[in-house]
Amino acid sequence: MMRLQKYMAHCGVGSRRKCEELIRQGRVFVNGSQVTEMGTLVDPNNDVVTLDQKQILKLNNDKIYLLLNKPRGVITSVFDPFGRKTVLEHIGWKGSRIYPVGRLDYDTEGLLILTNDGEFAYEMMHPKHRVEKEYYCVVKGSPKPENLSRLRQGIDIGGFVTSPAEVTLLSKNKESSVFRVVIKEGKNRQVRRMFDAINHPVVYLRRERIGNLRLGSLKPGQWRYLSEKEVNDLKRISGGSMQYD
Ligand code: URA
Repeated sequence: MMRLQKYMAHCGVGSRRKCEELIRQGRVFVNGSQVTEMGTLVDPNNDVVTLDQKQILKLNNDKIYLLLNKPRGVITSVFDPFGRKTVLEHIGWKGSRIYPVGRLDYDTEGLLILTNDGEFAYEMMHPKHRVEKEYYCVVKGSPKPENLSRLRQGIDIGGFVTSPAEVTLLSKNKESSVFRVVIKEGKNRQVRRMFDAINHPVVYLRRERIGNLRLGSLKPGQWRYLSEKEVNDLKRISGGSMQYD
């Protein structure tokens, strides 16, 4: 519940003082009843507030966008029939319904966006927008250059040939090699299946970036809200027409 004049100000009607004035003038109705008392409380989700017979609509500030560094051992889902911990349980989310944009495997760490904005989620995941996803990837052994070329050109991962990927060797030792991999698709377990196809299984995988949004210094398990600019930048690359409002 929220004081009426505060709610009106939130909706962009004007300053609180201006809203108090409008209420005093008898121009504001809540659920069809005129309100002139200043302390009146409204429920922004259920009450209909009008000014001069026109409904005051909420600005789109009820949209939620957050960025989680998903730890390993947590499932990217809002419910798991096998009782495994979900990302929402992990962050202890008690707010309105949000869900993950795309998914990371149980054993994959890294950047995961959660939102209640269905259009945003749809556009972000739509293959036609080819939003870049960057992974830090440790694989067993030392892949040969010709196999890395196959990954770069596109490789059959079982019924699907991937589009060209950026695959950059960052370091290696006797047991394993570390790569930065950038793909523009999001097939199920794609990076793992790409390296499986050249017989160098992934032993550690972390998503570092989606579009221009980076994981930054968030530790596994930590989360934060996205800024308005970050949301707008993502909307620009994933569709162009949507704007945060
Ligand atoms: N590719 C994978 O193999 N796993 C993920 O979680 C994401 C991309």
